Amino acid sequence: VPFLLPPTAPRSDRLAAVLAFGETSVLEACAVLSGRISGAEVACPRILTLRLAGGLAGAQSIAGIHKLAVLISEHETLEAELDDLVQSLSREIERLRRVAVSGYCMDEAEYEDVVQALLTAVRDAGLRKVRLLRPSGNELKVDQLLGREALDFVAFKNKGRYLVGPTSYVRSPSPMRERGTKRPSRRPEISLSPRLARTLVNISGVPKGATLLDPFCGAGTVLVEGMFASLRCIGVDSSVPRLREARENMRWASRQAKGGTYRLELGDARDLEGLVEGQVDAVVTEPILLPLLNARPSMATAHEMFERAQSVYADSLGEMSRVLKPGGRMVVVVPTVATIEGDDLSMELQVDHLGLRPYQPGPIHVGYPVPVSFESTRWVKRAVYAFESRA
Ligand SMILES: C[S@@+](CC[C@H](N)C(=O)[O-])C[C@H]1O[C@@H](n2cnc3c(N)ncnc32)[C@H](O)[C@@H]1O
Repeated sequence: VPFLLPPTAPRSDRLAAVLAFGETSVLEACAVLSGRISGAEVACPRILTLRLAGGLAGAQSIAGIHKLAVLISEHETLEAELDDLVQSLSREIERLRRVAVSGYCMDEAEYEDVVQALLTAVRDAGLRKVRLLRPSGNELKVDQLLGREALDFVAFKNKGRYLVGPTSYVRSPSPMRERGTKRPSRRPEISLSPRLARTLVNISGVPKGATLLDPFCGAGTVLVEGMFASLRCIGVDSSVPRLREARENMRWASRQAKGGTYRLELGDARDLEGLVEGQVDAVVTEPILLPLLNARPSMATAHEMFERAQSVYADSLGEMSRVLKPGGRMVVVVPTVATIEGDDLSMELQVDHLGLRPYQPGPIHVGYPVPVSFESTRWVKRAVYAFESRA
């Protein structure tokens, strides 16, 4: 039950989104909700604030959002704000009998300020027998929310002010989790997570029935998500074992996902002639992963690693742009390396000469490559480019 409070009647058009992948999730939210967002601001790495017309509808398809809270901030002080909020939610609070604060971008003392203000508001509202749940890490997790353990208040600090709102929507992680653990072939060392794969498919912005190409498809994580998005998926890989794994996974996906189709080809992404006929609506791919590192490399070593990978990117980008429809999007993952010198070095892609331009969904200007935050990998991480083919 992803909507915890009625989705049709948000009390404000200001929302706080708790992000799964930082800026990459901002890009996804702007792509999915494009046209309905009149303002967006990254308040802190895990929180995006949005002004959104039309309520919470559409939020279900955003893979990179854990929860959405409706922000109510017409008051100057936190106390006044919480008093109003608790009054308006008193029925739900009495029903659940437990409240919790999920604090983002705030230290322990600031978190405690919000907790105390909430307890005062609960007492002032005359709500008895309501207890405070203190979640570990000061955050009520999505599973706890789905189990209705408490009414959750998202709180964070922005420009010196606290902002608070009740969590109204959560995305259930179970279907994605199951796609990660239950599909027949799993290759965690090369594959991205289903949630990230779906985020990238969503950034590509294609509607049901459109064609999606992953020319470095590996075990097929992106294509499996394409199947669940009801797309016509085409996968290419130069490795026979990887293609066999992709085939097992796609067969498995096609038994559950309605509306999607797939075709897999053994071949080289640098020469798609004969593999892809006509043009595709979108390309989503992760061409190369750098070797896993035991320690941070020097800047010079990182440059060498990138140089070796660069030619595969350069040669395949030309082919991918050739088979992409005018106006179509290309979403490409590149590696990022944390160096001894303390910099995060990303591979840079040059595409001007290919008739591609950086995709800007508005209303936030996106600086590419966009880092994929909060992944558990250590020195080698991911970053994302999204391009649009000039119409
Ligand atoms: C990082 S993996 C992709 C993983 C994939 N996203 C998944 O979820 O399993 C890159 C894949 O590209 C394939 N590959 C490498 N060079 C290639 C080329 N020139 N043409 C096509 N595939 C290639 C590799 O066999 C590997 O499966």
